Amino acid sequence: MPVNTDFQIFISNMTVDDIENVVQIEADAYGQHHWSKSSFYDEMNNNLARYYCAKTQNNKLVAYAGIWNIIDEAHITTIAVKPEFMRKHIGEALIVKILEDCYNNKIKYLTLEVRESNVPAIELYKKYGFSSLGTRKGYYQDNNENALIMWTENIFYEKFKTRFEQNRENLKKFIEIK
Ligand SMILES: CC(C)(COP(=O)(O)OP(=O)(O)OC[C@H]1O[C@@H](n2cnc3c(N)ncnc32)[C@H](O)[C@@H]1OP(=O)(O)O)[C@@H](O)C(=O)NCCC(=O)NCCS
Repeated sequence: MPVNTDFQIFISNMTVDDIENVVQIEADAYGQHHWSKSSFYDEMNNNLARYYCAKTQNNKLVAYAGIWNIIDEAHITTIAVKPEFMRKHIGEALIVKILEDCYNNKIKYLTLEVRESNVPAIELYKKYGFSSLGTRKGYYQDNNENALIMWTENIFYEKFKTRFEQNRENLKKFIEIK
């Protein structure tokens, strides 16, 4: 099928060379309480962690995401897109990458916490089949906001997989993932 997309995005494993740029996006995305460089350095040496970067054709780092794999579960620890690159399907491309890796590694369930006011993120997760199964009261210490705890069902279930494959196919209209 011919590809007719707005642009290409290159997804790769995060390395220490990416951390400087990642932390800048992190600060925009999460404000005062963002992860420090040293947190990301630690994550690069965490055997349970996998981190990905999304870069444009001219090698500009515009988004990243990470997970911890624990037995058959993956916990999405972070995902953020540079503000001027939001709503261009890059967050979605990272979720697709994470899910592909989870399928390859026989991970069955994904989970995450999200601020209950974070509509963009909640809508993104819902689009990919996450639902809210509980709340952690006052989880975010900066403003005492509650966290929604979102989970997928078993991602190998037909319904989940079909939704994933349809979303991934549809994404090709907007963005070419390398
Ligand atoms: C959440 C975030 C990663 C989404 O990334 P993005 O690249 O802008 O989103 P995409 O363009 O891939 O959008 C995919 C879907 O997410 C949802 N979405 C994204 N932004 C949205 C918005 N502003 N309002 C409502 N829904 C939104 C939609 O369902 C969208 O699908 P659609 O285009 O078919 O409507 C981005 O807003 C971000 O970096 N936020 C700051 C960091 C953050 O809050 N991370 C999550 C912490 S839990």
